[in-house]
Amino acid sequence: MIYVKSEEEIAALRTACAVVRDCLKFVGERIRAGMTTKEVDDMVHGFIKASGAIPSCLGYCGYPAATCVSVNEVVVHGIPGDRVIKEGDIVSVDLCAEKNGFIGDAARTFCIGEVSPERKKLVKVTEECFFKGIEGLKEGTRLYDIGYRVQKHAEENGFSVIRAYTGHGIGREMHEDPSVPNFGRKGTGVRLQAGTVLCIEPMIAEGDFRVEVLSDNWTAVTRDRKSAAHYENTVVVREDGVEILTL
Ligand code: MF3
Ligand code: CO
Repeated sequence: MIYVKSEEEIAALRTACAVVRDCLKFVGERIRAGMTTKEVDDMVHGFIKASGAIPSCLGYCGYPAATCVSVNEVVVHGIPGDRVIKEGDIVSVDLCAEKNGFIGDAARTFCIGEVSPERKKLVKVTEECFFKGIEGLKEGTRLYDIGYRVQKHAEENGFSVIRAYTGHGIGREMHEDPSVPNFGRKGTGVRLQAGTVLCIEPMIAEGDFRVEVLSDNWTAVTRDRKSAAHYENTVVVREDGVEILTL
């Protein structure tokens, strides 16, 4: 069941999303080769706490950190640890913050120093996929039109769309209905109502879209170990378009 939000609820979401947005900017200005993924997590955790917010990922279904830090072949849910970030890596940082009872969620993939043209293109196309996904999105749009547009752009660029994970609704809970796949058939799915809040999060692979979860039960890697990228924002569906809360 999709919970359509009131303007008061959206105002609270906006506050939570501003913390996420500012935190990602903070991380983007500091992440560099030589850092461990745990150091990235410490930075995020400190920032969220200093903002008077709660890191919602920590403890979510037993998840052990504030941040998901996913390097190269890691698609999503990379548990921060002692992996050292190297020049040429692409590192996705995904985080949630709760404020006033509402949760914001966003992710960016950062290029560390000089990266290969292929990785650079992957990161760029993944970000573009988000913007393609929201193109024309407004009250009345069919849900799977989002995924249709994301998939089209990814595949036109020779990449593939991760199927095992999707975007989602968000509000008081991190994951609410509906599930928002990054693939789909045009003109299908429910018609979205104004006030629906969605996390739209293309996860795009350089090679095959199949993933495998490592023995820590979280870290999802591509089976072919080629790179993947992730870009996510929390958005509100409006009568005449979308409001992006985490940009
Ligand atoms: N932020 C992720 C999402 O986009 C969720 C991370 S899973 C968690 O849905 F366990 F880390 F919370
Ligand atoms: Co999300």
